[in-house]
Amino acid sequence: MKRLGILTGGGDAPGLNAVIRAAVKTAIYEYGCEVVGIRDGYDGFMADGGIVPLGIEDVRGILPRGGTILGAANRGNPYARKVIREGKEVVIDISDEIIKAIGRLDLDALLVLGGDGTLHSAHELYLKGAPIIGVPKTIDNDIGGTEATFGFDTAVTTATEAIDKLHTTAEAHHRVMVLELMGRNAGFIALHAGVSGGADVILIPEIPFKYESVLAKVRQRVERGYLFSIIVVSEGAQPKEGGQIFSRAGDEVYVPRLGGIGQLVGEYIEGQGFETRVTVLGHVQRGGTPTPFDRWLATRYGAAAVRLAALGKFDRMVSLQAGRIMDISLTEVIAVSKRVDIHDDAVITARGMSIAFGDE
Ligand code: F6P
Repeated sequence: MKRLGILTGGGDAPGLNAVIRAAVKTAIYEYGCEVVGIRDGYDGFMADGGIVPLGIEDVRGILPRGGTILGAANRGNPYARKVIREGKEVVIDISDEIIKAIGRLDLDALLVLGGDGTLHSAHELYLKGAPIIGVPKTIDNDIGGTEATFGFDTAVTTATEAIDKLHTTAEAHHRVMVLELMGRNAGFIALHAGVSGGADVILIPEIPFKYESVLAKVRQRVERGYLFSIIVVSEGAQPKEGGQIFSRAGDEVYVPRLGGIGQLVGEYIEGQGFETRVTVLGHVQRGGTPTPFDRWLATRYGAAAVRLAALGKFDRMVSLQAGRIMDISLTEVIAVSKRVDIHDDAVITARGMSIAFGDE
């Protein structure tokens, strides 16, 4: 292996820089290999200055930094890219250009750090001849074939801190506080942060809820003498009657953007006579310095991805299995997205803590 490329696709997640640093160090120190970074996801293959050399000096000091030194692009699907042609916006497929660029750059392997969408297109590129290795990245923790994605632990930490802060003001004012969290169609962030922060209600996409059940929990708490409640709502949560709430529709390039269910829950509770405030934590969950766990996981993933590349084991993703770093085929990874197992001990334990999921 002489030349390795790295790109970060989709939305950012804390730990991307830690993966880049580990991959660069491993490639250079263990294999004497040259490394280049591709800027702004796959876009870098097409842009002037889109390819940058990555040496030891370039990755010095980036371990604790959020974001990505390479830039990210969540509109970066190579099979559907919006460009302006003759004054008009058109959607084009640039996958053949990318394959040519990989050849021109003489890359022996391309590490793709991405979530569901990015890994999907990475697999398609492999089928066209690209030497792809995947690294599972997302705060949502919804990638199949791995117990953990890097970025998730940091997002849960941030969300838990938010719940702790809402608790004190909720109690002081005898209010109901609704906190909407990210996660797309998986409720992992809401479940983990909700349990860790001692929420009273957790609404997740995997358990459709009834507004009346949420209200019943708030009422029960008041009857027991607790004049405040904390309701954690995953952005993908949905009532039993009715679907998910979107703040923006999708198109050929963008997936629909979830958002707004927290507000609806808040308005309903307030309408029943309980003073309520709604907080949408948003992209705060994606920012900031990665937790030690995410730095540790990201470092192990970055190093393992380079070793996989050296073995020529393409179309595979590094993964965490029973605490060990393993690898799994991208076909298996993209076949099934990971969701909260509602029969798992985590949900049962939460119910045992008297946390309501709005389904009873
Ligand atoms: O997948 C990560 C994530 O932060 C989701 O939790 C959220 O729904 C989405 O990305 C937000 O995307 P954008 O950065 O495009 O607003």
